[in-house]
Amino acid sequence: MIVENAMNLLNEELVSWVNEMKTMCEPDHVHWCDGSETENQRMIDALIASKTLRKLNEAKRPNSYLALSDPSDVARVEDRTFICSESPNDAGPTNNWVNPIEMKAKLSGLFQGCMKGRTMYVIPFCMGPISSPMSQIGIEITDSPYVVINMRVMTRMGKKVLEVLGPQGTFVKCLHSVGAPLAAGQKDVSWPCNKDEKYIVHFPEENTVWSFGSGYGGNALLGKKCFSLRLASSMGRKEGWLAEHMLILGVQSPEGEKKYVAAAFPSACGKTNFAMMIPPKEMGDWKITTVGDDIAWIKPDRNGVLRAINPEAGFFGVAPGTSLRTNPNAVQTIAKNTIFTNVALTEDGDVWWEGLTDQPPAHLTDWQGQPWTPGNGKLAAHPNARFTSPASQCPSIDGNWESAEGVEISAMIFGGRRADTIPLITQTRDWNHGVYFASTIGSETTAAATGKVGVVRRDPMAMLPFCGYHMGDYFNHWLKMENRTSQLPPIFIVNWFKKDQDGKFMWPGYSQNMRVLKWIFQRTNKVASAKETVLGMQPRYEDMDWNGLDFSAEKFAELVKVNSTEWETELLSHKDFFQKLGHFPMAFLGIQETSLTKLKREHLSLI
Ligand code: GTP
Ligand code: SPV
Ligand code: MN
Repeated sequence: MIVENAMNLLNEELVSWVNEMKTMCEPDHVHWCDGSETENQRMIDALIASKTLRKLNEAKRPNSYLALSDPSDVARVEDRTFICSESPNDAGPTNNWVNPIEMKAKLSGLFQGCMKGRTMYVIPFCMGPISSPMSQIGIEITDSPYVVINMRVMTRMGKKVLEVLGPQGTFVKCLHSVGAPLAAGQKDVSWPCNKDEKYIVHFPEENTVWSFGSGYGGNALLGKKCFSLRLASSMGRKEGWLAEHMLILGVQSPEGEKKYVAAAFPSACGKTNFAMMIPPKEMGDWKITTVGDDIAWIKPDRNGVLRAINPEAGFFGVAPGTSLRTNPNAVQTIAKNTIFTNVALTEDGDVWWEGLTDQPPAHLTDWQGQPWTPGNGKLAAHPNARFTSPASQCPSIDGNWESAEGVEISAMIFGGRRADTIPLITQTRDWNHGVYFASTIGSETTAAATGKVGVVRRDPMAMLPFCGYHMGDYFNHWLKMENRTSQLPPIFIVNWFKKDQDGKFMWPGYSQNMRVLKWIFQRTNKVASAKETVLGMQPRYEDMDWNGLDFSAEKFAELVKVNSTEWETELLSHKDFFQKLGHFPMAFLGIQETSLTKLKREHLSLI
């Protein structure tokens, strides 16, 4: 038999690709995933037997599991991520590039026989609601059953996707291996991966991803960053749409008016929190609903209006810091049917992480499987520990989250993590100015990531690790959306992370961000007033709703002020960044000059 248990719906290209990969990877078995409950349960049972998963206390956390990864395989590996376009100019200086022929040759060597002793799973999956014309099909081949059960939560997966694909349909080819073949009789480890070689490789001209050596998150769940951001951004460039690292939320006023907003913040900068925010009740009957928390595909519709879908079906969210205080909707979402990775285990078989409760439990098993007690100097959960949960379980899920035509985007927000310089909120002047501002978003690195604290890394539109082509071309593509649309949403820049001289956050954040969102909502209706500043439009103290929050006008002034010395440094650093890119939109030069002139004029008028 060519392919074992392949459902009778075959697509010739798919069969021949699977056969080719099978010949290269030499698995012991091939299993076509149908996505059924029975299949899922069988895989979970096997993962428990191999000690990859541990079942959590059924009474406390129904149908939920904990996986602890190898300590060397805990996050995306940006330095091992490659965009192998034919021309290096199409990858640009912010991506790693290797000639695709050379890379295929190198990887073919690594993939040769890499699935020995393992089963090769074929996962048909759909990014976006199955019925949506904006959705796209992918097939992931993997030797990790952990990946299969996660893909079942994060995407629409299984037999139904093959039916839609049909015999002629095209699909994105995603090949994944943990890179740990088993010799005859060799016992497997609980988290197989390859400690020496990791490669996350994209071939944009072939709509193909090859990922080797890691079993974690975005490295292994190839529908997410690899397909829905890196490859999709490159498709969007050709086809006139956008694939963005954005949450999508619905916001409804007490009067019942509803709008959708998309917001881009870099990794671990608050997308999940913002997407599920519960507004302070003193502000009246405002409602936030969630469409997505990580990725948005945004296209102009027939009338030139930008509409967005969330290509994912689940949340792969950061666990540490998630609590009833910071994100009660997330806490409810993950109450059942959830896979936890690298969090700590309590004595009664539940999960814990830093920030879940003020008081840590007296005894835990930490993310490395070791006994843990408070104050032992270690983190109980890895800082990038995550939960995988179905989006449908989120109490704030939006009624239109699976709408085939997507939701109309009325405003876009961009924000980074900056201790200084960037004000709490600014509305940019127009599309070009907004795109410029969004392109210069930066975020401070944390000690955990680089060893250097507070270094600003430019992370344009929160897409630095995810843009599948030249960043300069990406900015141009954004500017050109003006010609493809009849109306464009206003662009806002936020910063929840400004700090005072004692290093404390100046803005309470979380649900209080609703105050900023209300101003944004009312700006899109031209209801809220603003004052013009050198950066754009900003709310005055009296333009904001302060019901239920004791926040002084002085503190607010600090949060929105534009310090001209800081801003001169900032603008020069933008210049530096653009120069390093090599090419970037000419329009940016003008915006930069105008900003510098405005700033100097303001500075002179102040002294
Ligand atoms: P990825 O899934 O990595 O793309 O990230 P994300 O943007 O969804 O990150 P997430 O929402 O999980 O961000 C979590 C981090 O942001 C935690 O450290 C939170 O405490 C912090 N955070 C979220 N919102 C706020 C806020 O309004 N203020 C402050 N100070 N921190 C916040
Ligand atoms: C991110 O890093 O932005 C994530 C997590 O959303 S991962 O899917 O691992 O990339
Ligand atoms: Mn993300």
